[in-house]
Amino acid sequence: MDRNLALEFVRITEAAALASAKWMGRGDNISADQAAVDAMRKAFDSVRINGTVVIGEGERDEAPMLYIGEKVGRNRGDAPSVDIALDPLEGTNICSCGGVGATSVIAVAESGHFLHAPDTYMDKIACGPAGRGVIDIDLSPTENIYRVAEKLGKPVEDMTVMILERPRHEALIAEVRKLGARISLIGDGDVSAAIASAWVDSGIDLLIGIGGAPEGVISAAALQCLGGDFQGRLKFRNEEEKARAKKMGINDFHKKYTIDELAKGSVMFCATGITDGPFLRGVKILPGRQAKTQSVVMRSTTGTIRTIETHHHLSKKPNLTA
Ligand code: FBP
Repeated sequence: MDRNLALEFVRITEAAALASAKWMGRGDNISADQAAVDAMRKAFDSVRINGTVVIGEGERDEAPMLYIGEKVGRNRGDAPSVDIALDPLEGTNICSCGGVGATSVIAVAESGHFLHAPDTYMDKIACGPAGRGVIDIDLSPTENIYRVAEKLGKPVEDMTVMILERPRHEALIAEVRKLGARISLIGDGDVSAAIASAWVDSGIDLLIGIGGAPEGVISAAALQCLGGDFQGRLKFRNEEEKARAKKMGINDFHKKYTIDELAKGSVMFCATGITDGPFLRGVKILPGRQAKTQSVVMRSTTGTIRTIETHHHLSKKPNLTA
């Protein structure tokens, strides 16, 4: 993976974050999402890659842009072939409510190195480097929390688990409470939550629970770069979802996916904050048609994590909006 591409990908998530931040708190999910998709799609045109979207906005017939299989990038024949997992606006509700932790994210790997995950749910567990090789989605939340606590040298009462606040997680929340561990309940955005579990100083030790499968692949890519761990198992709500998964080459519906089966090899990940979150600050719109963004870009090969703060002069860049 060419490291010089890293800054190019940051420009793309910055463009999507700036565009969707304009819709923060306005209660309009559709416009916020559309702004992010349009800006991201346009920004890809200037990057010298032969990219294929493998995790995107949906199937070709339901998403006009950034759909699964779409070719992106300025391919001039000699451009590197890469697979792309993206979410122009991860946490649509968060953005439209002005909540915590909406981001724009892109993960990049060599062709064939991301799981082509169907748009179903996924049971997930994520943690930082201390828990790598220790977590096991086949074990109970209690056992996983104990195992990671031991590696971190922390009493269980000091552990903090992020969980999506959903009725389906009632039993999980009750179990973690009974154990005496702390919980951070979030309304949306489990990619941010997975990253937080491996982010130094976030105060989050684990993400546990069911969220979107595409988000699971993106999270696995980020955790490969952070040296953390991630496991997932697809959860199907109906036969139609199973049929869709089959079409994407998935035959074992109960398979436990390790981090390497979700995102393997040399992976690059970048994200720009849209609203303030557990590891990134959101877009700040400044007087005089200026704006500030904070992004992170990291690579699994080196483990280097760069946080990039960008001051944008929007009047000089008519292609950017905020
Ligand atoms: P969107 O940005 O696509 O709205 O996803 C937000 C999100 O919270 C994800 O982070 C999470 O994986 C998924 O939705 C959970 O799905 P649900 O809202 O159906 O529980």
